[in-house]
Amino acid sequence: MFLPLTSISRLCLIGVLFLCAFPLMLGSGSGEATVDEPAPLVKVLVTYHSLSGNTERMAEAVVDGVKSVSGAEALLKRVGKVTADDLFSADAVVVGSPVYWSNMSGEVKTFFDNWQFKFGVFPDFKMKNKIGAAFATGGQVSSGKEITMLTILAAMLGNQMIVVSGGGAFGASATTEGDSPGIDNKELADAKALGRRVAEVAVMMQRGSSR
Ligand SMILES: Cc1cc2nc3c(=O)[nH]c(=O)nc-3n(C[C@H](O)[C@H](O)[C@H](O)COP(=O)(O)O)c2cc1C
Repeated sequence: MFLPLTSISRLCLIGVLFLCAFPLMLGSGSGEATVDEPAPLVKVLVTYHSLSGNTERMAEAVVDGVKSVSGAEALLKRVGKVTADDLFSADAVVVGSPVYWSNMSGEVKTFFDNWQFKFGVFPDFKMKNKIGAAFATGGQVSSGKEITMLTILAAMLGNQMIVVSGGGAFGASATTEGDSPGIDNKELADAKALGRRVAEVAVMMQRGSSR
């Protein structure tokens, strides 16, 4: 049976319709991502110098760690092959070096210098707020691995990046000569943990910035 609407019930009906349509009006035409759209993958650039393969093995384990995080992808490149696009499209950069005379190798230092000479990061601080992390391999137990990681992190801090650790207090490291030749499973696990932490933080940053 048809019942004529009273003024009050008409008002209620209009109110309900408005409440249903309001979220659609907010979303439409604003260009905002809808909840159904998947977030783009965060990009983690893992880059390194390696002459005899030790630092390269650690780099590969870092990549494994990155790939274990849902929502993250990794790009693995030697420092000399990194392009401006690789650098600037990355959400996070993990840099690895062998210890040379208790510090990062010349190739890795040149890579950082090229951020300015080739890629012009300053004065706009183009790396600002990207995540950064470090790893290192050294022949001896105590002969520069931590300094190497800290000088890598210092270069990142100077670029206003957000540095994180993982695997060890300053990043992941391995001893490769003397009583501890090559890279053992614990060191590879530390490198993987570093990659995982970097990717997790990068994903958290992405979620935070899209709120
Ligand atoms: C020029 C040079 C200097 C080095 N200086 C150090 C050093 O100061 N401390 C150290 O622990 N190892 C030192 N090493 C050993 C390397 O750091 C170590 O073998 C490293 O794992 C090599 O990495 P790669 O296999 O990725 O090239 C040096 C090696 C070279 C070639």
